[in-house]
Amino acid sequence: MIEVPLASLSMDDLSSKAIDSVLNSGNLTMGSEVAKFEEAMAREVGSKHFLMVNSGSSANLLMIEALLRPVKDKPKLLPGDAVLVPAVAWPTTVWPIIQLGLNPIFVDVDKDTLAMDPLQAKSLLEKQDGAKIRALFLIHPLGLAVDMAAFEELAAAHNLILLSDVCESLGARSLNGKAAGSASVMRSYSFYFSHHITTMEGGGIATDSPEVYDDLISMRSHGWSRGRSDETSWTSQQTQTDSRFNFVGTGFNVRPMEIQGAIGRSQLSNLPEFLRARRHLAAEVQSALRGTSINLISGGVENIADNPQHSWMLLPFRVTSSDPRSGRTLACNYLEERGVATRPILTGNFLRQPSVRRFIPTAGSACNFPASEKVHEECFMVGAHPSLSQVQREHLVRSLMGAASLLT
Ligand SMILES: Cc1ncc(COP(=O)(O)O)c(C=O)c1O
Repeated sequence: MIEVPLASLSMDDLSSKAIDSVLNSGNLTMGSEVAKFEEAMAREVGSKHFLMVNSGSSANLLMIEALLRPVKDKPKLLPGDAVLVPAVAWPTTVWPIIQLGLNPIFVDVDKDTLAMDPLQAKSLLEKQDGAKIRALFLIHPLGLAVDMAAFEELAAAHNLILLSDVCESLGARSLNGKAAGSASVMRSYSFYFSHHITTMEGGGIATDSPEVYDDLISMRSHGWSRGRSDETSWTSQQTQTDSRFNFVGTGFNVRPMEIQGAIGRSQLSNLPEFLRARRHLAAEVQSALRGTSINLISGGVENIADNPQHSWMLLPFRVTSSDPRSGRTLACNYLEERGVATRPILTGNFLRQPSVRRFIPTAGSACNFPASEKVHEECFMVGAHPSLSQVQREHLVRSLMGAASLLT
C-alpha cells in the first residue's frame, strides 16, 4: 500500500556532509555553526536578532521568562498577570504561562484562519472582568500568518505585549510581505523534524530588541553574562566573582548543539524549494476538492498557486456534509485505510484536554468556544511534506477525492 505520512525526514547530502564536518571538528557544543545559523535565520525572518535553542517549546518558555525577569529593565509582566491565548493551541504555548505564574485566558478562534479571533479578543479586553490582561500570545497556525493589524490596534489600545508563536509558520508572510508575527516583541520558531526546516529537534526566537536579545542569551545558558553585548561592563562591576563565571540573571540550559546549527544552515538553503513543493500540493488539493464536502481551510486564499503568503505546514480540512461530525470520522477512516495519515488540527479544542481541566480550572467549559469546538469535531489534517514523491502526492489527492465522494 502507498503510505502518505504526516511528515518524513528531509535530510539531504548537504545535511549529512554538515554533520560529518562538525563531528570531525571535535567542537560539538554550541559555537560558530549555531552562530552562523542564527545570522541566516535573522536574515530569513527579517529580525535584528535570532537566538537558537533546543526546541520551539524552550523558545516559548524563554520568551515568557524574559518578560518576567529581565536582567536590567523593569519586568514587563508580573506573576498573576493574564495572557490571552487561542483555544486551538499547542500545549507548550500555554504551559510556560502557568509554569511561570501567569494566568492564561482562552479566546475562540476564527473559523477561516484557525487563529485567535480578534473580535473575541476585543470583547474580552473591553470586559476585562478584573483580569489583569497584559499580553497577547498569538499562534500562527499551520503556515498561515495571522493578520497583525487588528492585534496591533488592540495592543496599542490596551497597552499589551504582543508575542507570536510561529513554530508552525516559517516562510509564511502577511499581506504586507513581512514574515509572520513581525510586529511582536518576540516570536518563536520550531525546527522539529516535521516542520518547514529541521534540525531534528530545535527552535529559536526572533526579536528586534537588543535588550531582550541580551537577556535571552543569558537565559538560554544558566543566566550567564557570556555572549551579552554588555558582558565586559558586568565584568568590570564585579569584584566578588570570577569574571568567567558571572551569573547576571535567571536561566535554564536550553542550548542547541553545533550539529543542529550546521544542519539548520543546509536546510535553510532548501527552504524556497520546500515551500514551493508544499504550496504546489496545497493548490492541487484545493482544486481537486472544489465543490465537494471536504474543504481545504486556506485562510480565505482562493487561488493558492498565485499566493506566496501561506507556507502550508500541513493541509487542514473542514467537513461540510449534512452531518459533519460523522462525515469527519468517515473521511478519516477511509483515508487511514488507504495509508493516508490523518490527525486533529493542533490539539483540537485545547480546553478538551484533561490537563487543562486539572491545571487551569479557570479556563471554563470547552463549549464556550464554538468555533474551536467545530475545529475539534469537524476538521482534520493530512501531511504536505516536501519529501512526498509524485506517486504519494497523486495517491493523496485521489484518496481525498474518494473520501469526499462518500459524503453528502
Ligand atoms: C504551535 C506550536 N508551538 C510550539 C511547538 C513546540 O515546538 P517543539 O516541538 O520544537 O518543542 C509546536 C510543535 O509542533 C507547535 O506546533
